[in-house]
Amino acid sequence: MELGTTLLACFILALVIKLSRTAPKGQLPPGPKGLPLVGNILDLSLKELWLSIAKWARNYGDIVYIHVFGTGLVFLNDAEVAVDLMDRKGSIYSDRPHLVMAGELCGGYNIMSFTGYNDQFRRQRRLMQRALTPLVIKNYHPLLEMETVPFLKRLLSKPESYVDHIRRYAGTLTLNVIYGHQVTSDDDRCLKIAEACADVLANDIAGGGFLWLVDVLPFLRHLPMWAPGSGFKHKAIRWKAQLTEFATVPYDEFKEKMENGTAKTCYCSTLVEAAGKSMTEQDEFDIKYSANTMYSASLDTTITVVTSFMLCMVQNPDVRMKAQAEIDRVVGKDRLPDFNDRPSLPYLECILSEVLRWTAPVPYALPHRLMEDDVYRNYFIPKGSFVFANIWSMTRNQEMYPNADAFSPERFEADLDEELKKKRDPKNFVFGFGRRRCPGMYLAEQSTWLLIASMLAALDIQKAVDDKGNVIEPQVRYENSVFRMPAPFKMDIRPREHARRLMNL
Ligand code: HEM
Repeated sequence: MELGTTLLACFILALVIKLSRTAPKGQLPPGPKGLPLVGNILDLSLKELWLSIAKWARNYGDIVYIHVFGTGLVFLNDAEVAVDLMDRKGSIYSDRPHLVMAGELCGGYNIMSFTGYNDQFRRQRRLMQRALTPLVIKNYHPLLEMETVPFLKRLLSKPESYVDHIRRYAGTLTLNVIYGHQVTSDDDRCLKIAEACADVLANDIAGGGFLWLVDVLPFLRHLPMWAPGSGFKHKAIRWKAQLTEFATVPYDEFKEKMENGTAKTCYCSTLVEAAGKSMTEQDEFDIKYSANTMYSASLDTTITVVTSFMLCMVQNPDVRMKAQAEIDRVVGKDRLPDFNDRPSLPYLECILSEVLRWTAPVPYALPHRLMEDDVYRNYFIPKGSFVFANIWSMTRNQEMYPNADAFSPERFEADLDEELKKKRDPKNFVFGFGRRRCPGMYLAEQSTWLLIASMLAALDIQKAVDDKGNVIEPQVRYENSVFRMPAPFKMDIRPREHARRLMNL
């Protein structure tokens, strides 16, 4: 659409909003003053937005309110406030924003992360929670352990493609755990479709922070396909077909195996067997799309955490060496660590906590939509507001974590009373809050532990050196607007002496 038409449409919309907007029924939480009508739209830079939000948190306190075209955006900057609202008032704080482009036109509403707080959400969430408890995840340990050495070997054979290897590791693992599908080559059809879709979701559909013009001006969804400016509808048709293929191909393959008796035990087989002969169309839809949701939710998060861990190791060689000394002492040099070693590796545990804290992988989580007007600490929070847990600021709380920008696993070594320990544990907030909290958190936490343990045991990850012997400092850039994922940087990855033998290099 031509710029002039767009601006005119925005102006008319803003005017309609202004005229139809009733005055707030109480005092709104404080926040930076926006422009008339359009509100704080210019404050929402897509680059490292969490830094701006943290600045507002410092200036205005635990709850910050801004608005864009009349829709409230509320940032909860303190974990206790987030628990008060998203946990304790979960019945009104668990909806998701209605996204016309991503949800309606591209078919994202079948993916649970986008679904509103409705029956479909509740049914699929129940399925996922049942399949992702710490007890059930124990059954996946052999699978997780099986994928580790191939991952390390791929990493060593082409270190500069480390992001691709992590993506392949996360994809392989998820396809196996969810569909019982064993990836045997880079050309695997399911893997290719899934990777292409994850890319479309993260970089095309969500590339601008999920908001398209049609989300602000929903009547544009009725634009005829031939009309100027209808390009987004053509894109949506293409992307919807891709997302449907992504959900269908691995599931149909699994069903075929189920019918001919060759399916392996996995998320889908467990649920299909439990449903038995009475499985309805709705049951099948729920299994298929909850499986698909987990796949799409696990890729970027895993890449974010593992690449951040690598960055931390490059920048903190003393931490790497201390962890390696612990692993060598406890595990020895004749094998790689496995889950049985976990209780005997306390420093590694501190590293995992610090990686999760320091990274803040999803810095302002995903928006929850408030379903009713609410009043909290004398502030009025209007129905329809998008409510964000400001995880970034929670990880940078100086009282809880002195010198919070520094990467220091030692901060978790202190012997604290149980209550304070729990409060400081980043696992309590980096996965979000309330009824929308990440259902994959136990799987994510355990697979990340194993990957970190194996990488430390087997590899030296350090600063790269150029041809003249000069050390290359990693250039740290954050370009993704949803995940705090460091853009690819230079580093040196090589096997430790005994690991060559262990991996037959
Ligand atoms: C370290 C890795 C991960 C981190 C840091 C993470 C973090 C998050 C966060 C912050 C949210 C938003 C919660 C909210 O709205 O309050 C979320 C949602 C979600 N995550 Fe994760 N996640 C990770 C890995 C995974 C994995 C491996 C899976 C699947 C197996 C998964 C599945 C989901 C799903 C399905 C949702 C949407 C939940 C809903 O809308 O109700 N995540 N995650």
